[in-house]
Amino acid sequence: MGEGLRVVLTEEEIKRKVRELGETLSRDYQGDDPVLISVLRGSVYFAVDLSRHISTPFTLDFISISRYGGNANPFGIVRITKDLDVNIASRHVLVVEDIVDTGLSLNYLLRNLKTRDPASLKVCTLLNVEERRIVDVPVDYKGFDLPDIFVVGYGLDYNEEYRNLTHIAELKRPGR
Ligand code: IMP
Ligand code: MG
Repeated sequence: MGEGLRVVLTEEEIKRKVRELGETLSRDYQGDDPVLISVLRGSVYFAVDLSRHISTPFTLDFISISRYGGNANPFGIVRITKDLDVNIASRHVLVVEDIVDTGLSLNYLLRNLKTRDPASLKVCTLLNVEERRIVDVPVDYKGFDLPDIFVVGYGLDYNEEYRNLTHIAELKRPGR
């Protein structure tokens, strides 16, 4: 273990960016009492750290989605495997993602959340991989743009491994 990993973003770089994003969100959502939706499980580390830098009141909730067939079946069924606990009708909603890659999962999620009539619906992602996009999804706040590489750490896993790295690293793996 450890071989095949190349540091892409250091802990310091991530910390600085998360603080900046938190400050921006604090201004933009001042007094709105937004619902932050962390998409399980990858975004938990980011969402928790980000929330510590948000100085206006908010509600934190979690949702879990899974896509059948993975990338082999990009237009396959997406389903919610754990739904929100709060009612988001008339609330300002911010979806917090670890990474937007093809955009397929997020596209499904946003369409689903829209049917619940939130007052507003925006997206904050730590990582954005524009090159890999299959569907156009709105990204309102983003930490870093990345090229087409597979990354792990800071919540992102490969077969459940590496989530707890405090930095983000490229993992060389077959097929990418
Ligand atoms: P999508 O392709 O935009 O639908 O991304 C779906 C999910 O795939 C993301 O939320 C991540 O959980 C996972 N994912 C995409 N790219 C990476 C990566 O480079 N490393 C680890 N997980 C990834
Ligand atoms: Mg995810």
